[in-house]
Amino acid sequence: MAITGIKGFNDILPGEVEKWQYIEATARRVFELYGLSEIRIPILEKTELFSRSIGDATDIVEKEMYSFVDKGENRVTMRPEGTASVMRSYIEHKLYAQDPVARLYYMGPMFRYERPQKGRYRQFHQIGAELTGVTDPTVDAQVLTMLSHFFAELGLDEPSLEINSLGCPECRPVYRESLKNFLLTRMELLCEDCVRRYETNPLRALDCKAAGCKEATKGAPAMLDNLCQGCSDHFEKTKSYLDAVGTKYRINERMVRGLDYYTRTTFEMVTSLLGAQSAVAAGGRYDGLISELGGPQIPGIGFAIGVERVALLLAEKDFARRPDLFIAAMGEVAHGRAFQLMTALQRLGSSVEIDYEGKSLKSQLRRADKFKARYTLIIGEDELSKGTAPLKNMDGGTQEEVALEAEAILKAVKG
Ligand code: HAM
Repeated sequence: MAITGIKGFNDILPGEVEKWQYIEATARRVFELYGLSEIRIPILEKTELFSRSIGDATDIVEKEMYSFVDKGENRVTMRPEGTASVMRSYIEHKLYAQDPVARLYYMGPMFRYERPQKGRYRQFHQIGAELTGVTDPTVDAQVLTMLSHFFAELGLDEPSLEINSLGCPECRPVYRESLKNFLLTRMELLCEDCVRRYETNPLRALDCKAAGCKEATKGAPAMLDNLCQGCSDHFEKTKSYLDAVGTKYRINERMVRGLDYYTRTTFEMVTSLLGAQSAVAAGGRYDGLISELGGPQIPGIGFAIGVERVALLLAEKDFARRPDLFIAAMGEVAHGRAFQLMTALQRLGSSVEIDYEGKSLKSQLRRADKFKARYTLIIGEDELSKGTAPLKNMDGGTQEEVALEAEAILKAVKG
């Protein structure tokens, strides 16, 4: 029996992969406008890196990590996200010593043992950005603007930006206690998961999808109403900078995020088009993460985009690559000439297809249609002796005679 792939691990096939390349190229182009450089981080890290940064009481660390003990008895994990690895690298290579302000982006596969469904996979791909070294809220507004810019460049009106503040180590513990007191009288409504994490992570009840939890948290105190002066100022300034540059957002005071390292500004790009998987991108500020991982006290902020979800939003667009030219040849000699012309044109930077099986002209032209070639050139004995052949523009239907020389054909197809 043939061996199949693993559930939740997908192949990205030709036809679909062009869309991914377009998404990745757009991200590189937009991020580089904002001064970001690419960083490539390994897929495998010490398990401790994720438990310490993402947090032991999170779903990711509690139940979703692909962790194992390797042959050298090391406890390792296939990265479930990129932020922790990027910060590990930033600290390990003392990037902050040259300049605490680092502006980095990355793209690649992440691994979480979640229940697969549309938009949720066990191997999925993120394009992430991380900016360190700036506390000033202009950087919060800049990161959010860059993310919105990326989606606008893709030509998508969905998703839309939602923002919140999760406070800091000064105000969040106070808020957490008041939320716990509020929930204490409503415990019987909470779902099993929220009861279990009442002590360790009570904020999760605020964005839990269970009907009982929604009911239980009606009228709950909001973090935004309980921010300390510093966090409140930061949030107000972030909003005013977003307004100043026309970046649209909505406040969602129930957004809590599933990772522990966040402080102050948090955000998600959400859509209603993907069912339960509404977040297409998400992120926030993490002012304590670098010091938590053993580095200096340097703030950071970033996000990650879920590439599969962006690809689903781009579903209707046709990204199939089209060759410039299909050369149809009749007879052995013409076939040899078609091969030479194809090779010469490819060396000159043009994409060309031919038939390899000596098929009839009709079926060669069907193949040209299937490739959606922009031009077709037909060569037979007559054309070989004349030294010219008809070149047909498949989009406009117009036809012209061209010399059977690579340069002349190139000029005609590339203009
Ligand atoms: P996250 O919210 O866990 O944040 O993931 C970010 C995005 O990755 C999600 O909004 C979603 O689009 C995509 N994603 C997550 N899990 C899956 C999955 N199982 N299948 C498909 N797509 C998925 C982070 O990972 C943070 N590191 C973001 C960040 C960067 N915060 C600061 N810097």
